[in-house]
Amino acid sequence: MEKMSLNEIRKQFLDFFESKDHHVRASYPLVPENDKSLLLINAGMAPLKNYFMGTEVPPKKRMSTCQKCIRTGDIENVGKTARHATFFEMLGNFSFGDYFKNESIAWGWEFVTKYLKLPVEKLWVTVYEEDDEAYEIWNKKIGVDPERIVRLGKEDNFWEIGVGPCGPCSEIYYDRGEKYGCSDPDCKPGCECDRYIEFWNHVFTQFDKDEDGNYNPLPNPNIDTGMGLERMACIIQGVDSIFEIDTIKHILNKVLDISGQKYGQGNEKTDTSIRIITDHIRSVTFMVCDGIMPSNEGRGYVLRRLLRRAARHGKLLGVKGDFLTQLVDCVLEVSSDAYPELLERKEYIKKVIAVEEERFQETIDQGSEILKGYIDELKQENKNILSGENAFRLYDTYGFPLELTKEILEEENMTADEEGFKAEMEKQRERARNARANNEGEGWKEDVYAKLDENIKSQFKGYKEYEMNSKILALVNNGEIVESVQKGDAVTVILDETPFYPEGGGQIGDLGLLVSEGCQIKITDCKKNNDRILHVGEVLEGSVSTDSVVKACIDVKNRMNSARNHTATHLLQKALRNVLGNHVEQSGSLVTPDRLRFDFTHFQGLTEVELERVEEIVNQKVLEGLNVLAEEMDIHEAKKKGATALFGEKYGDVVRVVSMGEYSVELCGGTHLNNTSQVGLFKIISEGGVAAGIRRIEAVTGQKSYEYMKEQELKIKEVSKLLKSNPKEVVTKVENLVNELKGVHKEVETLKNKLAKGAVDEILATAVEIEDIKVIRYKLSGLDMDSLRKLGDQLKDKLGTGIVVLGTEKDNKGNFIAMATEDAVKKGVHAGNVIRQVAKIAGGGGGGKPTMAQAGAKDISKIDEALEQVMNFVREQLK
Ligand code: ALA
Repeated sequence: MEKMSLNEIRKQFLDFFESKDHHVRASYPLVPENDKSLLLINAGMAPLKNYFMGTEVPPKKRMSTCQKCIRTGDIENVGKTARHATFFEMLGNFSFGDYFKNESIAWGWEFVTKYLKLPVEKLWVTVYEEDDEAYEIWNKKIGVDPERIVRLGKEDNFWEIGVGPCGPCSEIYYDRGEKYGCSDPDCKPGCECDRYIEFWNHVFTQFDKDEDGNYNPLPNPNIDTGMGLERMACIIQGVDSIFEIDTIKHILNKVLDISGQKYGQGNEKTDTSIRIITDHIRSVTFMVCDGIMPSNEGRGYVLRRLLRRAARHGKLLGVKGDFLTQLVDCVLEVSSDAYPELLERKEYIKKVIAVEEERFQETIDQGSEILKGYIDELKQENKNILSGENAFRLYDTYGFPLELTKEILEEENMTADEEGFKAEMEKQRERARNARANNEGEGWKEDVYAKLDENIKSQFKGYKEYEMNSKILALVNNGEIVESVQKGDAVTVILDETPFYPEGGGQIGDLGLLVSEGCQIKITDCKKNNDRILHVGEVLEGSVSTDSVVKACIDVKNRMNSARNHTATHLLQKALRNVLGNHVEQSGSLVTPDRLRFDFTHFQGLTEVELERVEEIVNQKVLEGLNVLAEEMDIHEAKKKGATALFGEKYGDVVRVVSMGEYSVELCGGTHLNNTSQVGLFKIISEGGVAAGIRRIEAVTGQKSYEYMKEQELKIKEVSKLLKSNPKEVVTKVENLVNELKGVHKEVETLKNKLAKGAVDEILATAVEIEDIKVIRYKLSGLDMDSLRKLGDQLKDKLGTGIVVLGTEKDNKGNFIAMATEDAVKKGVHAGNVIRQVAKIAGGGGGGKPTMAQAGAKDISKIDEALEQVMNFVREQLK
């Protein structure tokens, strides 16, 4: 057996199956396409389900892949053992109704013995107990000793995962030697001990398991095999732990580097943390690469959980500050040859991880403190279950995934009330649902449409047609299906064909009219419901019933305004990429007739220069008058054309590609202009942040940008008028004014000082003596702190031995200062203490040194009253 690197094993495998006439393709993304039953791809066959079920035609009947997979079901064990991982790669060969058991088994054996050169004497196989066919093939065709063929039951040798394709299977095992075994003389594959490890599962996919648990035979028997690449690398490299194979060890070493820790020195806790970080950073890197963003739901939550768990274990290892992005580099070093998308998105991946890690660091300390408080409370009360409410508060306010809370609790032998947590979560969802429900208008009770006949479907014809005769297939009023509607009724109309664009892809629905003899319905919104298009509106005139024909006319001007904004959105996306870089991905958009809003990934605010550049490019492309072309084509062809797709979005085989000259090519179902010049002027009106790493640009086009400019122009005119100037000279005029004003300010200051000086004598005259100490308390108005201090200094200089306390109010705010001379301090006067007492009376606070102190006053009506007390306070101090 030759030692091979993990990357070499992968290559050997794929080359081998290519030589057996398989279509070898790159791994599918981790996010399943068109498969609601699955959060993340968890096996090589998962993205191929439709080929197995015959609902889609594969590019070739034989395929082979190395698939990125995530499984988090066992996450508690990850790190604790040497074998569990959340991320792994699965090698597989697949037959969609082409070859079956004979070939699969024979090739499996050939690859393992001839290419990987595993010693035959170490190999065992298992078959499903009723599968004589497979048994015969192993025994007769391959020549495996019957002693080495084990028949096992459904538990071991029937493969299924949730619903979908499944079937009996046969597995190849490797014997690691006696030292790993139990001492049972009958020990063989299927035994619980560690001696025999399975590494290649050949599934004879014959059934499709449905939601009700029925096994429905598939039209053609298929082959689905899976070999864990990391596990095979363990065998070939002769190591016991996946953390010791070449690629993963590279990452682990970096963890040691960063943390300054040692691995395998007998400290179980340290080793566990090291393994957790090493494993999770692989998952996190690949998940972000495939477009998953940290969030509190679905796969975003899985990602957040892994990322935060890794970050926290970094803390446990004593790593200071953020460190995860350094590890991303290591993942790339070992994996980007096989997964070039990692390199393409390198900067993006690092940014997303950095932002999330930073956010977590901010809250983790706070959250940890709070959790520690809870733990102390529990200890005091002799309890060991954290309430669901508190666990939820940690989750909701401090971003602590429940599992993280549980993990920290576990270190104290405590748990969390998960039911209570779920109940809190449900309450919050309910609140969110209610908030949403209140936003939905008449007739939007979704479930009513489920009652309609399946054949009620609508065809969208509005790319080319703006007006057409259509048949009414259904009417809904007040959440009920009705036969007819009359004047004044709110209604939702479903037509067989329609020019109305239903809200989708960020573009809002068309407006317009449905007209028939004597009847008029005003359409104010249009949405999709599965294959149906819902026209929402109100009957203006007459009545109409199901099956009648109406003329459906969209508001063309309104549509054109939307189209302007939609076309401009595509130009904007491209321009942003040009200016900011390819990490820019659309994360949301809204196209209305009035304006467009585009959300995208970018990590800092755009500079003035960047914004100007973006706007300029879009306007250039408008002026170039690029033709806008919409074509339907095969998804592969679209990708070849370099079409920008929505990150993480699912597309069918045939997609609509909208291109603007050569400049912009995007997958899009929206309605567009014929030529970019129809956009008119493109004007950005705002830029800002909406979430960590997401920016938003709003812009206007056409009539609205004209109006916008007009408004600006008007403002300038008004300003000019006020300044008795004209738009040409207004800037100079304002500059002059500002300078003039500066001069005036200065003058006012000087005058004020002069006045204050005059006041000095007047105020000095009010001094009262207590035991040789002169005390001044005086209220002024309109002075700021600075002037107050200056005045205080002057008074103090002239006072002799004593203390000055001044109060003032300005702009509804009160301030006090107190200043005492050194010799007064020696006699016991303390300005800081006086001012504290004074300020307190006026509802404020402050203090300071014995010689100088200041304070604010909240209640300016009490300033006089407070100053009156000064004598008493000083008297107290002198006692
Ligand atoms: N789909 C099979 C597995 O994951 C090959 O084991």
